[in-house]
Amino acid sequence: MSITNGEKSLDDELITPHVGLWAEKKYRLIHNYSRIFSTSMKKKWDARVYIDLFAGAGISVIQGTSRKVLTSPMLSLDIRDKFDKYIFCELDKVKLDALQHRVEKRYSNTVDVQYIHGDANLITEKILESIPTFRKGFKVISFCFLDPLKAKNLSFSTIEALSITYVDFLILVPIYMDMNRTKNIDNKIIEKFVGSPDWRDQWKAAKEKNIAFDIFFTEYYQKRMESLGYCHGGYSEIVRSTNKNLPLYRLGFFSRHPLGQKFWEEAKKYSTDQTNLFD
Ligand SMILES: C[S@@+](CC[C@H](N)C(=O)[O-])C[C@H]1O[C@@H](n2cnc3c(N)ncnc32)[C@H](O)[C@@H]1O
Repeated sequence: MSITNGEKSLDDELITPHVGLWAEKKYRLIHNYSRIFSTSMKKKWDARVYIDLFAGAGISVIQGTSRKVLTSPMLSLDIRDKFDKYIFCELDKVKLDALQHRVEKRYSNTVDVQYIHGDANLITEKILESIPTFRKGFKVISFCFLDPLKAKNLSFSTIEALSITYVDFLILVPIYMDMNRTKNIDNKIIEKFVGSPDWRDQWKAAKEKNIAFDIFFTEYYQKRMESLGYCHGGYSEIVRSTNKNLPLYRLGFFSRHPLGQKFWEEAKKYSTDQTNLFD
């Protein structure tokens, strides 16, 4: 099933990256979580903000086909009760411009979107400035999707910086990709991703107990998030490549509130049961 909400054509001349068929699992989760979160929080908060720091171009084409699908930023807009504000950050200007064009074409001026060009890890202050200020009589809550593709693209310090606000995170943890390949090498990719050199000693100890890297890492990363107060959530099942069935990544959800956990469980349930996908 294509996540196009019944739309017949997403054709345009703009950049349209190729994605594997397996990306649709990610798209179902992000769509469902956005829908559940935004509707449930509508009357409880004065401003709900969607933040997508690795936003991409808004539309992708499924590899080996001509089928186009909406991707994370467009899916977060493709819900009944829209967020009050959207913040889309992207390193590649061509993709960001394509996204802006697509959003404007589809929603004209009906949504509040801020586009930020740059390396998400280097412009956290700008991102924080874009989030409406939480103040007396004006409560702000955000949902942030981090879809870095590779571990080297995301620093834990970025999460730490955003975590000074009320924000829940959905993070693509690329555990079987560049991280898995470098786990025995003394380089900085994992250290940057987890924000601590301590992972090496912990991994050494886990290896001695015959614990597999993926099991070790998901638990370790969860502990790192717990150190920021994110005690609720959990991971999706392993997402695998459709052709070779190779493991690729897991999506980790992290919230400081038990309600976040409840939404996550619902989003996962509806993402499996594809008949309940749309409003
Ligand atoms: C896997 S794509 C995800 C796109 C989108 N989230 C989706 O649903 O398909 C990752 C995107 O992050 C961008 N990117 C990579 N490193 C980045 C960084 N440090 N800051 C911002 N964007 C980055 C890439 O250009 C790419 O468009």
